[in-house]
Amino acid sequence: MNSTPRKRVRKAVFPVAGLGTRFLPATKAVPKEMLTVVDKPVIQYVVDEARAAGIEHLVFVTGRNKGVIEDHFDIPYELQSMLEERNKTEALAILNAALPTAGQTSFTRQQAPLGLGHAVWCARDIVGNEPFALLLPDMLMQDEPGCLARMMEIYNQTGGNIISTEEVAWEETHKYGVVEKGEEVAGGFRIHGMVEKPPKGTAPSNLFINGRYILQPEIFEILETQTTGAGGEIQLTDAMLTLAKKQDFYGFTFTGRTFDCGSKTGFIKANVAFAMWNSEMADEVREDILELIETVKPV
Ligand code: G1P
Repeated sequence: MNSTPRKRVRKAVFPVAGLGTRFLPATKAVPKEMLTVVDKPVIQYVVDEARAAGIEHLVFVTGRNKGVIEDHFDIPYELQSMLEERNKTEALAILNAALPTAGQTSFTRQQAPLGLGHAVWCARDIVGNEPFALLLPDMLMQDEPGCLARMMEIYNQTGGNIISTEEVAWEETHKYGVVEKGEEVAGGFRIHGMVEKPPKGTAPSNLFINGRYILQPEIFEILETQTTGAGGEIQLTDAMLTLAKKQDFYGFTFTGRTFDCGSKTGFIKANVAFAMWNSEMADEVREDILELIETVKPV
């Protein structure tokens, strides 16, 4: 096993090329990452989580019809000056909150939907020879501090590679990447194995990979030659398994809430959970939602 690399994690990769077909027609002209949870697009939550964990540079792996994501993280001059003229200080503050500054964003395109492993590989030149965080925007997490910040705490002690996991019902394991847990270390555990979308009844555990990673740059060399795996796609999990044979690889068990915003039900639950997290609307929302649950029946 090589010595454990522990350079600072400055960059985060966001794979945002997915088509969002499960949300049609909503995603016909709007990328699924721009759908709104309470008052922010999904991607903004994930970017905020990364920045709160100390990330300085945001790398988006985009695809066709995703240009609005680039606009979202830019300065909207016309709107800004109009709000200034009208003295709308509150709206201005919201607009400027956590905007990346010049040079802190990069965009590259995944030209064909060949899988998550391929999407990550598309970021290789922008990330370069340093460790990076990877956040899957479909997975919206609710915790304070955030999931990536908690992983950084472990990384600062262990270095190497760390992926976040959490428990899922055994019947659901075939939908995800699943890890095999080893000994406990520094608030996490060693990973002895992992498998992408294990056929029903074969998962090594019910701990699934929930979309937050800290990876060393050697993953790119492996992805370069990675053949297709589950679902005929180039799978990141397969490349991570190869890397785990050469470098330290840890798991972290996330205990906050995770919402799979790639599914309609996950997206609706995220809206309820983030509304309840908002002290200004929690009481009203609670009352109305309880009433709706009691009275509205399926048509
Ligand atoms: C991807 C990963 C998988 C992970 C999942 C989390 O799968 O390949 O390991 O568990 O994200 O959402 P996908 O959802 O792209 O099929």
